[in-house]
Amino acid sequence: MLDAERNRMLMEVDAGTPMGEVLRRYWHPIAAESEFADKHTKPVRLLGENLVLYKDLSGKYGLLDRHCPHRRADLSYGWAEQDGLRCNYHGWLFGQNGKCLAQPYEDIEDPSGKLRKTIAIKNYRVSAQGGLLWAYMGPDPAPEPPCYEHFHWQNGFRQIVFSEIPCNWFQCQENSIDPVHFEWMHSNWDIKLNGKTAPYSPSHIKVDFEEFDLGFIYRRIRTDTDENHAMWRLGRVCLWPYALATRSHIEWRVPIDDETTLSVGWFFDRVPKEKEPYVQNSVPHWYAPIRDEKTGRWITSHVMNQDFVAWVGQGLFADRTQEHLGRSDRGIAMIRQRYFRDMEAVKRGEDPKAVIRDPEQAARIQFPIDGLELFRDGQDNADHPRRQKFAFLAGQPPEIARAYDDAMGFGEKPTNK
Ligand code: FES
Ligand SMILES: [Fe+2]
Repeated sequence: MLDAERNRMLMEVDAGTPMGEVLRRYWHPIAAESEFADKHTKPVRLLGENLVLYKDLSGKYGLLDRHCPHRRADLSYGWAEQDGLRCNYHGWLFGQNGKCLAQPYEDIEDPSGKLRKTIAIKNYRVSAQGGLLWAYMGPDPAPEPPCYEHFHWQNGFRQIVFSEIPCNWFQCQENSIDPVHFEWMHSNWDIKLNGKTAPYSPSHIKVDFEEFDLGFIYRRIRTDTDENHAMWRLGRVCLWPYALATRSHIEWRVPIDDETTLSVGWFFDRVPKEKEPYVQNSVPHWYAPIRDEKTGRWITSHVMNQDFVAWVGQGLFADRTQEHLGRSDRGIAMIRQRYFRDMEAVKRGEDPKAVIRDPEQAARIQFPIDGLELFRDGQDNADHPRRQKFAFLAGQPPEIARAYDDAMGFGEKPTNK
């Protein structure tokens, strides 16, 4: 159990708060590159700051304050130029380094550009990795942008899925170190949701948690497995600062602000060997709804939607002064302690956990992955899973289901809804 003050410290993400300063030492996934196929700006809110992400006509990405330093117009309604973003109100132009490059009327009255030279707009670094756009909002020098092992895999169908979750990010992240919820929230609840009563999923009989350089690993044994099972040998990775890596996909819980979290899922399905070579030029993205419009209740049919039900169910801010941790929650206690130590480290001017500054490590970030050879080297058609609905999030657009079917060779008709 935590007191209210320490609970608050875990949750607040604004600049100047202990956790806000820790989080500003990492890169954050905030958009898909494919979002810029048909537009040049995207309004973004990250760690409580309103920003605009844009792609200029030379193909460079920039991230600026949402509001123009002239008279505060919304720059997400501006337009991209060869080397910057132009405000639609009076035409001031800004480069990705925040410099004001033009003030059309002022530049006529005062060609020396006296005012222009004093103007700078808040700006942050952007990096494209794995089809995602990442932002860094911390002090220099920035760590290396993260390119995970998964982003190197070829011959696969990748997709990026965003959902906006109306609750604090930290309770979402605690779900990344919670083995027992699989048995209840996914397996057994699915059985109930499908109108059945039995048999229940095999029970967990042993769990273990361990810290490593990139995060934490949890392991489990159920009544149907033993210590030779991958879930015990390799376990599953709670990836610092706020992701869960489960085999071929990674889920990040990105703090938009104290009250809202952006769930970002990156998914990979290797095509059968018979369909190689398969090249996907850009990683498609979609936004997943979380509420059932007919009933007004949360959607419960897909794995991550079920997680979302737990997260928002804990309230806007989980009240940890009221909880009762058990033995299965040892991992939760461990990550909280690590975050408190990270806050102290940042206060001392040190890096928090898992900030990667080695370019070689960042270029291919590796950690234990069950089935790695399969994703890296491919699998034969005979062993390849048959067409199933996309199990993780509800609302996959039919064109993405169709592209997936084509990639896998499942025929023309998508079966997903
Ligand atoms: S408010 Fe942006 S140019 Fe005037
Ligand atoms: Fe889950």
